[in-house]
Amino acid sequence: MKKLRWGVIGAGGIADRRTLPGMMLSEEAELIAVMEINEELAENLRVKYGAKRAYTDHKSLLADPEVDVVYIASPVNFHKEQAIDAARAKKDILLEKPICLDIVPQYALFVKSFFYFFSFSLFFAKNAQISLIRP
Ligand SMILES: NC(=O)c1ccc[n+]([C@@H]2O[C@H](COP(=O)([O-])OP(=O)(O)OC[C@H]3O[C@@H](n4cnc5c(N)ncnc54)[C@H](O)[C@@H]3O)[C@@H](O)[C@H]2O)c1
Repeated sequence: MKKLRWGVIGAGGIADRRTLPGMMLSEEAELIAVMEINEELAENLRVKYGAKRAYTDHKSLLADPEVDVVYIASPVNFHKEQAIDAARAKKDILLEKPICLDIVPQYALFVKSFFYFFSFSLFFAKNAQISLIRP
């Protein structure tokens, strides 16, 4: 089975509290890289979740050829830039809400992401915890 190879941008907040522990339960997910602005936190998260690499800037994570899909869980003011950079890097994207701060970029980002796989619903469809309760 081909696994989804994840990179997580802004791994130290909700990603650490909620999403990464769930992701680790899935046999279909492999955590390749985490990114945090603080180097020590990035390295601690890399060790905690057994990721291969830790980065302190999102562009380095996006340049990682092993990363297929990125989960963007940074503060909202970074979403627009990081999501557009991820789309340009041809990564699939799971983007935390809200998409960004103003409606025009939200619309532009939605159109841009039309050609890429917007993996939010698939993520939940494949989520290990959801699979456990699904008949
Ligand atoms: N879906 C949900 O139920 C849910 C719940 C909580 C939060 N959220 C969303 O998740 C996002 C993050 O929320 P949070 O509570 O974890 O916030 P947070 O402020 O804790 O930020 C998350 C992490 O991003 C890091 N960060 C800071 N600057 C960064 C940058 N330039 N690039 C990458 N990472 C950076 C921080 O160090 C922090 O560890 C927000 O958009 C929020 O709305 C969604």
